[in-house]
Amino acid sequence: MSVSLPPQVTLVDVGARDGLQNEKQNVETVHKVELVQRLTAAGLREVEVTSFVSPKWVPQMSDNAAVMAGLQRKPGVRYSVLVPNMKGLEAALPTQPDEVVVFGAASEAFSQRNINCSIEESIERFRPVVQAARAAGVKVRGAISCALGCPYQGEVSLVDVERVVRLMKDIGVQHVGIADTIGVGTARRAQAAMERALKHYPLHEVSGHFHDTYGQALANIYACLEMGVHVFDTSIAGLGGCPYAKGATGNVASEDVVFMLDGLGIETGIDLDALVDAGAFISGVLGRAPVSRAGKALLAKRQ
Ligand code: HMG
Ligand code: MG
Repeated sequence: MSVSLPPQVTLVDVGARDGLQNEKQNVETVHKVELVQRLTAAGLREVEVTSFVSPKWVPQMSDNAAVMAGLQRKPGVRYSVLVPNMKGLEAALPTQPDEVVVFGAASEAFSQRNINCSIEESIERFRPVVQAARAAGVKVRGAISCALGCPYQGEVSLVDVERVVRLMKDIGVQHVGIADTIGVGTARRAQAAMERALKHYPLHEVSGHFHDTYGQALANIYACLEMGVHVFDTSIAGLGGCPYAKGATGNVASEDVVFMLDGLGIETGIDLDALVDAGAFISGVLGRAPVSRAGKALLAKRQ
């Protein structure tokens, strides 16, 4: 049986944000900047750099403006940042992001824990953010957390996922990401959630963001590839988690996904060796081995 898969895939590395927001230890701004530089040098065309959230809630991202200012921008690369509200957008815009990400949830309980408001309130907060960002010529992406399960309420229905997709669409969010915050989703469920997103957004404006807590992320990505989805968030060295989703581990490792896509003959523009070096670099800064299986195997092979 042959299934046709997309010839090209875009990966958005979220390690500098999703990964480093979750580290207990302080990571110096220069190291964050070097990580992003290494990612773009390896061929990443989209990088989520930081977030403009409350420093009381997430102190790890409080050097957001300094990280953005430290970057040597590479032409053709999209540098994005998370913003939860107008205050975040106002702080972010002077740093000239190419894209901002508003982040909501398909679960009420998670919305309250993560951004301290209901789903409906979050949409009302995002509405002026989307308007102002788009007026400033900045693209807006929306992340939908807990689309495949919630650490507080457990099951999340497809109806709830589609409701948030539709709300995001209504306020002008241009791209929607289906996020499995705690990595509990399996392949058919990932496809079903993606189908709901595709009822409202074109194929090139949906993406998958799969944490790998239960080891399902590569299978979920493959299942989405079968549907033609060709944008995925991944995280260098498998960094990541969410401070408000206890037990959630990292995103699927960028190195593992590139290894799989290379094997499938799918073009990413990313040099796996340089990516492995970037993973080794940030893992060295953090004082541990990369979580990426491919990263570890390729490093071992070099010795
Ligand atoms: P709040 O306390 O309800 O907000 O927090 P508030 O409007 O009442 O303001 C309280 C204080 O925060 C005030 O300061 C504001 O000025 C300040 P004070 O007067 O007390 O000194 N404040 C801000 N400061 C800086 N930047 C801002 C900002 N907004 C308010 N933007 C808020 C609401 C959303 C701000 C808070 O809940 C928050 O920052 N949450 C962040 C949560 C977060 O970053 N989570 C991780 C990212 S999401 C994620 O990882 C999931 C994802 O990867 C997908 C997936 O895997 O599911 C994307
Ligand atoms: Mg995440």
